[in-house]
Amino acid sequence: ISIAAVVPAAGVGARMGLNHPKQYLKINDKTILEHTLEKLAGVKQIDHTFVAISKDDAYFPELDIEHLGLSRVDGGKERADSVLNALKAMSANPPKWVLVHDAARPLVEPKDIEKLIAHCLSAGEGGILASKVKDTIKRGGQYSEETVPRDQLWQALTPQLFIFEELLHALDTALKSGAIITDEASAIELQGKPVRLVEGRSDNIKITTPEDHALACFLMSQQQK
Ligand code: CTP
Ligand code: MG
Repeated sequence: ISIAAVVPAAGVGARMGLNHPKQYLKINDKTILEHTLEKLAGVKQIDHTFVAISKDDAYFPELDIEHLGLSRVDGGKERADSVLNALKAMSANPPKWVLVHDAARPLVEPKDIEKLIAHCLSAGEGGILASKVKDTIKRGGQYSEETVPRDQLWQALTPQLFIFEELLHALDTALKSGAIITDEASAIELQGKPVRLVEGRSDNIKITTPEDHALACFLMSQQQK
């Protein structure tokens, strides 16, 4: 059974507010993107990794990652376009499964990735890492209109693992229809296909703002102890 990975890393990081994409911010000794790629490289079941990078990205060639043997593909307008470009690049030699993981989530534990792979492969169904919502959730605008019961609420994380052909079709269809999809699972849901929720660590955060970066630096130093 073959598993290929896709790392979308073609965003600009607008919410981080820097003059360079956030995946090139450092955590301790290395960039966020290098940490993420090394985490994936530690998962033996992954046969090959494709990284989606902006065409005009001058930072990527400077990274010290030759030893990881990655394939670079062009990013697209939105995250889903970047992922779809990578899937199309794989089509010549398609894997059975594809695992998509945000460049901006360097804190993922290889153990959690292995847990997702084990659950999905044994069930023969796609799935995602997710964590249970911990906060009290309100729905409203200026005023709270309702407290939403959280027993059925999950926060979607990555990686997200799906059968290659099913994800290719789902993303292609969703993008052509103009649907708003912020992760792979939302495209699969539109196809009426199951998405297993596999509980993952809630410290697998997506680094989006400067506060997230500060927290990630702390969490990474704890992990490396
Ligand atoms: N991404 C991508 N291609 C895009 C947009 C995003 O590959 N056109 C990637 C980002 O590089 C990131 C992941 O998708 O690893 C999750 O996206 P997000 O956290 O939103 O990153 P950015 O889009 O870069 O940040 P922002 O939305 O603040 O601009
Ligand atoms: Mg974005």
